[in-house]
Amino acid sequence: MEKKLKIGIVGCGAIGSTLAEAIRENLSKGAELASLYDTDLGKCYKLANISGNKKLAALNLDALINKANLVIEATKAASAFEIAKKCLAFSKDIMIMSVGGIIEHYKELELLAKGKKAKIYIPSGAVCGIDGLKALANSRINKVTLTTKKPPKAFLGASYISKRKIRLDNLKEDTVIFEGDAYSAIRVLPQNVNVAATLSIAGIGPKDTVIRIVASPEVTRNVHEIEIEAEAGKIVARTENIAHPDNPKTSYLAALSAIAYLKQIIGSLKVGT
Ligand SMILES: NC(=O)c1ccc[n+]([C@@H]2O[C@H](COP(=O)([O-])OP(=O)(O)OC[C@H]3O[C@@H](n4cnc5c(N)ncnc54)[C@H](O)[C@@H]3O)[C@@H](O)[C@H]2O)c1
Repeated sequence: MEKKLKIGIVGCGAIGSTLAEAIRENLSKGAELASLYDTDLGKCYKLANISGNKKLAALNLDALINKANLVIEATKAASAFEIAKKCLAFSKDIMIMSVGGIIEHYKELELLAKGKKAKIYIPSGAVCGIDGLKALANSRINKVTLTTKKPPKAFLGASYISKRKIRLDNLKEDTVIFEGDAYSAIRVLPQNVNVAATLSIAGIGPKDTVIRIVASPEVTRNVHEIEIEAEAGKIVARTENIAHPDNPKTSYLAALSAIAYLKQIIGSLKVGT
């Protein structure tokens, strides 16, 4: 009998909980939940209980890494790099959800993974079009632009908005609040990081990927529009996201995309690039 992939989940929030359920309910033929960890141990124990085994709760990251072959990082941008580095140092594969947190270091992580014979998986996350971008990257790409539109209230509290005294109340039309490369986008509006980071890594890199962030009174959902101009064709892809039921800041599609990736990893039939 083939061995099941032992999966450890770091971060027992919205995405971590959805993935734990999927591993239990839908992926159990090829994978098993081996360990859970969260800096909020209460959340960790709660998810271990829901998953039917209190012993799944690990007291620290090292204990989780010890039990898993693949670690899923679903924490926060500020933690992602250190978690990924530690997993790779122990030659464990890692799936990264907080992609914005590794944008400055993804090449370093790639080198480490190579040296340790481990893999880094980055799901498409809250956006579609990554498959086409990956294919086009094998020929010449002239331009990649991501336009992210969110309702004005989604930007309330962002320090970039208050520092620049950008008025978001009573907006009557779409207002571009940032345009620049992906590195700058991630620095100034860190809450918009993951899609910009994934797109950059898959395509032409953070320095050359153009990010436009728009406060739009027209939209009620977070909308990502990708435009790719390349030698082999042009792609325009639009994703309208519905929020995850447990975290309004996270798109449900991001969690589903990680489930789809896990299916690719453990399955015999792999569809899509
Ligand atoms: N790739 C994408 O397209 C995409 C889309 C949406 C969200 N995300 C990212 O995925 C991550 C998880 O999202 P979520 O909605 O589940 O968040 P969440 O806030 O619901 O859960 C995160 C959990 O991680 C825990 N945590 C924080 N730091 C930790 C650490 N160092 N070690 C262990 N646990 C830690 C928190 O206590 C919390 O329980 C976030 O960084 C989010 O930005 C990515």
